[in-house]
Amino acid sequence: MPTYKYPNSISFFRFLFNSSEITKNPIPFQRKWFEEKGDSFSVWSPLRGHIILTRDAKISKQILQKKHKIYHKSKLQTKFLSKYVGYGLLTSSGDYWLQQRRLIQPGFHKEKIQNLVSITQASIDEEVGKIETGQFTDLYPIMNTLAFEVVAKSLFDFSASKDTMRRLQSIIEQLQRFIVKEIRQPHKKLKYWLSGEIRYHMKLVKESREIVLSIIEQRRRSHQRHDDLLDMLLNARYEDGTSMTNDQLIDEILILFVAGHETTANALTFTLSLLAQHQEVLAKAAAETAEISEKKFSNLETIANLNYIRSCIEESMRLYPPAWITDRVATEDDFLGDYHIKKGTLLGISIYELHRSKQYWQNPEVFDPGRFYGNKKIDTSYYLPFGAGPRLCIGNNFAMFEMILAINTILKKFEIQSDNKPIEFLPLITLKPVGIKLKFSSIS
Ligand code: HEM
Repeated sequence: MPTYKYPNSISFFRFLFNSSEITKNPIPFQRKWFEEKGDSFSVWSPLRGHIILTRDAKISKQILQKKHKIYHKSKLQTKFLSKYVGYGLLTSSGDYWLQQRRLIQPGFHKEKIQNLVSITQASIDEEVGKIETGQFTDLYPIMNTLAFEVVAKSLFDFSASKDTMRRLQSIIEQLQRFIVKEIRQPHKKLKYWLSGEIRYHMKLVKESREIVLSIIEQRRRSHQRHDDLLDMLLNARYEDGTSMTNDQLIDEILILFVAGHETTANALTFTLSLLAQHQEVLAKAAAETAEISEKKFSNLETIANLNYIRSCIEESMRLYPPAWITDRVATEDDFLGDYHIKKGTLLGISIYELHRSKQYWQNPEVFDPGRFYGNKKIDTSYYLPFGAGPRLCIGNNFAMFEMILAINTILKKFEIQSDNKPIEFLPLITLKPVGIKLKFSSIS
């Protein structure tokens, strides 16, 4: 019998005792326990066996990069998520994931994405044009709609009515909220079933799939070339010459909506809020915007030259990583540094804590875009807003250029002001900003 060695442990009873608070907001607990037990700690659960949470860069690198083949996504990410949002790139694993990744990856190559810049800029202009001035406004809903519209228009050229679009956006939001409830309070499953909540949400799943199918069919009937991601998905062929079925297409499209809009909306909200709270940084970013806009660059050149704004976004995602945690399950016994873990161990990698660890960052709680400015290379074992290794976010380049264009457009048009309340957030599936308000005033 091999002897296993796990990181310092938290007793299961202590964990249970705090479970209702952990359910509401796990971030203060992980901080407290890392400080107490070290950069990795474990909990032994009678139902789940050993669970490890880590903010150790070497361990994160081994799991996500060096030995990724033996670390697979857990059922939380595959089974639970896919029940509601489909079995696509984000939620699949093993050979099926690899086959889909190979098929879809070319659609996200830099050259392909660059062709989408003008349509992305047009969607951003439309949404930014709707921002009301002169009063403190809830920022998140504006950024959420902006990010949703950008994915819909740039990647799929969806020409559904505004009502249908808002419906799809609202369904995705409702489903995500329910997934969090189910994952965090699994003991209430019977209650959700009896109260009809599960049935209600499965009806929403059906409706969202019907909306996406109607859009696919509309595109097929149009016989027009759009040269966007939807065309690419429809025309992609596996090695044996077959193409994706309608169900596979719906799964992948829904996943791209889910993975691609809320994360970006969160990052944009945090970035604008941080800028508004740091006047000297805001002044530099606004000066860069003004300088670049005088040069009459193309959209692509604009993105390439907005280096300070890029650094502000990178620093904002360090402090508030939209994907604040990820997990993997060991499919074999493994040695992780000093530890020896058993096949089946569940591991959580706290991206939030890696990004704020004193081991890797000076003054980690301070917002300082200078850390990134000048194309400084930062190690992906402790800075990983888009993940790392083969399961790196497929939309990372797209997200970066969308965010740079959005911040640039806003700073060109408005002065922004914060109410200077501390930035609040909730760690749900993504790290969601809460109650952030900004005042926009037009630059005359
Ligand atoms: C600021 C914006 C974004 C952030 C912070 C972000 C973050 C991440 C992270 C951390 C992962 C890896 C998860 C893991 O390894 O467990 C991931 C995967 C993924 N992201 Fe993003 N993402 C963003 C935007 C987007 C966009 C715009 C799209 C598409 C339109 C997208 C699509 C995906 C997909 C499909 C995956 C799964 C890739 C795979 O497993 O092969 N993401 N994202």
